[in-house]
Amino acid sequence: MSAIHVQPIGYALGAKVTGVDLSKTLGADEVSQIKAAWTKHLVLVFPGQDLDPETLIAFTRHFGELDDYASQPFNRHPGHDEVMLLSNKPIDGKLPPGANNGQNWHTDLSYTTRPAKGTMVYCIEKPSVGGDTMFANMYLAYESLSPKLRAFLDDTEAVHDVSLISARRDPAIMEAFKRLNPPVVHPAVREHPDAHRRALYVNDRVRTFVGMSDAESKPIIQFLCQHSVQPRFVYRHRWEVRDLVLWDNRCLTHLAVGDYDPREFRHMIRTSTMGDYHGRLENPEAAKAAQAALKAAAATSQDIVAGISSLHD
Ligand code: SIN
Repeated sequence: MSAIHVQPIGYALGAKVTGVDLSKTLGADEVSQIKAAWTKHLVLVFPGQDLDPETLIAFTRHFGELDDYASQPFNRHPGHDEVMLLSNKPIDGKLPPGANNGQNWHTDLSYTTRPAKGTMVYCIEKPSVGGDTMFANMYLAYESLSPKLRAFLDDTEAVHDVSLISARRDPAIMEAFKRLNPPVVHPAVREHPDAHRRALYVNDRVRTFVGMSDAESKPIIQFLCQHSVQPRFVYRHRWEVRDLVLWDNRCLTHLAVGDYDPREFRHMIRTSTMGDYHGRLENPEAAKAAQAALKAAAATSQDIVAGISSLHD
């Protein structure tokens, strides 16, 4: 009998999971207990784990096919395309591109046609204070809206635009992000396939609603963004070194709090699983042109990385 223990750590979402060693091959019973806890609590914190990129990848495979971060090759861990570096630790004397990732409310990879299902982040180093991650329960955000607004959102699609991924990014990195990720359309509300609950899928990276003007869309988007991250819907995770945190992008938004001393290191590695749901490009013709231009310029991921590095010089 497995000794997995699940203890809620937030009212809106979040649970701590102990009694399992994620560096070892997990049994089917352990995986199904973790999946059940994940569906119930949305965010799972596994303290005191000993992981490296290989064992993190192996653990992630239990939850689906890994994303290879082709949407942002410059953020990849050297040697592991499926691992993202969330780190301000200099590489060759330069700040890595992922140093300020995720500092507005978002759900992972919603600027792609195949947004992430799960995300796993493992903490290797942390600043002495700050650098937390906040998570908001988007089931509660949706369920607490009036029936009229819910009905409107049930029938609405939103445009997610990578140019809204937040300030504090290098302009060269932003240009590469935009070239690789033309705007995409997703429903404003998504039903979770396991929980069978509907969740708001609107966050700071939504530019407009399909079939509505920006002037009409923006006040509603702004309202939803404020509404969905009220403290009563939020769990704030204070990282400890060796925490592995697993979250569900289909029913929450999250934000990396950039409130720490930049002379201290916040060094983490991340994997994501690809979702089963596919969205569509807002403008397929413009997207094709962007992809063709990218190929014509022979802008492979290595070229993009090299281009960004030279701009940093
Ligand atoms: C992310 O959005 O994946 C980054 C989360 C974090 O660094 O806290």
